[in-house]
Amino acid sequence: MKIGVFDSGVGGITVLKDSLRELPNQDYIYYADIANVPYGTKPKEEVKRYVFEAVEFIAEKEVNALVIACNTATSIAIADLRKVFEFPIIGMEPAVKPAVEKNRTKKVLVTATPLTLKEKKFQDLVSKIGSEDIIEPLPLPKLVEFAENFIFDEQTVLSHLREKFSTYNLNQYSSVVLGCTHFIFYKDLFRKIIPESVNIIDGNVGTVNQLKKKLKESKGKLGNGEIVFYSSEKRDEDNKTLRKYIEILE
Ligand code: DGL
Repeated sequence: MKIGVFDSGVGGITVLKDSLRELPNQDYIYYADIANVPYGTKPKEEVKRYVFEAVEFIAEKEVNALVIACNTATSIAIADLRKVFEFPIIGMEPAVKPAVEKNRTKKVLVTATPLTLKEKKFQDLVSKIGSEDIIEPLPLPKLVEFAENFIFDEQTVLSHLREKFSTYNLNQYSSVVLGCTHFIFYKDLFRKIIPESVNIIDGNVGTVNQLKKKLKESKGKLGNGEIVFYSSEKRDEDNKTLRKYIEILE
């Protein structure tokens, strides 16, 4: 079957990578909206327009399912997308629930884009599990910029993270949630400043499990792990620009 994986940029490649591992016998279209990234610092209506334009393009490629591998796009548009498109659409949300289920007595720090954290969907998620008193949001938009510019140099990223975490006593937290797919590239660097006793949780596994479930329900023939990359509506002819991000996850 053909699976679409969509993100504002390169962050969703972390989800693509996990999908390839779990579902190697499918074909993939990866769509990075490079012309409009970042989403997380832009107004909601503008982002919604970008998401719809991208998904309309992906729909023309006749995908059997679509993963919105972007917490920001999911929070802004998933409900409306599901009203318009017929194929299954799997979204992402900051993994607050699993974090709170692990421990309700200590605080949980949720890192994501500014837009995800100020959206109603996030507030609703927090109140639905009655965790307002232990959830603290921390927007980290700079990490999106780093990933888009292929900045993986340890010193640069670590010094930014150290500064961002400098006012927190991390021993008071049970988990740090990585609520943006771009942040997954830096998981090892987060670990360097977050004590071992604190969990680092992301939503990638949950999303890939959802995808597996949806594919079981649909009928279609197997593929062979082919990936076609698009940078906004332009096909990556050299297949290198985005593919190099898969390599750094190896
Ligand atoms: N990767 C996206 C997310 O998971 C958003 C990054 C951005 O465009 O700001 O939220």
